[in-house]
Amino acid sequence: MDLIQRAAERLKRNGDLSLVERAANRLSAAAPAQTVPADDPPQDQAETRNLADSSAAESATLPTRHLNLDLGRLQIAGFVTPTGSRTRISEEFRVIKRPVLLRAFATGDDHIEHGNLMMVTSAKPGEGKTFTAINLAMSIASERDLHVLLVDADVQRPSIFQVLGLPPQKGLLDVLSDNSMTPADVLIRTNIRNLSLMAAGTPSLATTELLASQKMINLMQEIATRYHDRIIILDAPPILASSEPSVLAIHVGQIILVIEAGKTGRRAVEQSLTHIGACPNISIIFNKADATRGKDEFGGYGYGYYETNE
Ligand SMILES: Nc1ncnc2c1ncn2[C@@H]1O[C@H](COP(=O)(O)OP(=O)(O)OP(=O)(O)O)[C@@H](O)[C@H]1O
Ligand SMILES: [Mg+2]
Repeated sequence: MDLIQRAAERLKRNGDLSLVERAANRLSAAAPAQTVPADDPPQDQAETRNLADSSAAESATLPTRHLNLDLGRLQIAGFVTPTGSRTRISEEFRVIKRPVLLRAFATGDDHIEHGNLMMVTSAKPGEGKTFTAINLAMSIASERDLHVLLVDADVQRPSIFQVLGLPPQKGLLDVLSDNSMTPADVLIRTNIRNLSLMAAGTPSLATTELLASQKMINLMQEIATRYHDRIIILDAPPILASSEPSVLAIHVGQIILVIEAGKTGRRAVEQSLTHIGACPNISIIFNKADATRGKDEFGGYGYGYYETNE
């Protein structure tokens, strides 16, 4: 059985249930409801502990700037927001985030190195990476005890700030190219208490090299390790159109591969899985799964988990 068949089989097993119901069934069978270790302190205490533990170097990574998201506008645009009403998309991301969080904080034999550092990517442009990354970040930020850092790592074609209605900012590329800058200079807090942002930053001729550089790897690992109670989500470029995802795959703990249902071919997905195969923890999300049925304003999601050792 090939890679895609295996992933599809996982989603087919429960017959006529909807994609989300199937995913929910699998999760309720496999996963405890609690996603955060019971002894984890609440966010405020965790922040205090981070501050209390921090050396001068550590405090250099604390976010210092603040931007307001227009949550009403984002809700109307179909995005999940912590204060918004329950929508189909918010319910679907409630389901999607559970296994992601379980893997992020798995302990013992199940522990995944840098499981809290993940990238969202897809085979080709336009499959819904940014939509997924933002909604996943929003949904996780609704968890009382977790903090999310959403990073626009699609440095050639950044869009997170534009989609969120925010002005362009310095960001990832500036830290990577300017040794005098620290992450604190580009981390941005928002009016969602548990959500911070990092923009792609100022483009340079060496954009691709910077993202694939050891400095980028060090930066991401530093953030993932220092803030172990944080989820870091990278909105990455498409795999078949850029080299960055295959490099980042070596260093992130999890990958969320978005597949636009009915559009992305099997071959493209197989090639993509090969490129990112260095990461053993790949979740597959079938985006816009029900869009062709015309029942809903927004396309639905299906969820599958692919393991490279299957
Ligand atoms: N499930 C969905 N329901 C409704 N609209 C969606 C959904 N997923 C994506 N879209 C819309 O499809 C368009 C493309 O999505 P998005 O920008 O997230 O794709 P992308 O993979 O990040 O693209 P790029 O490769 O250009 O960065 C956007 O207008 C987005 O709002
Ligand atoms: Mg995008």
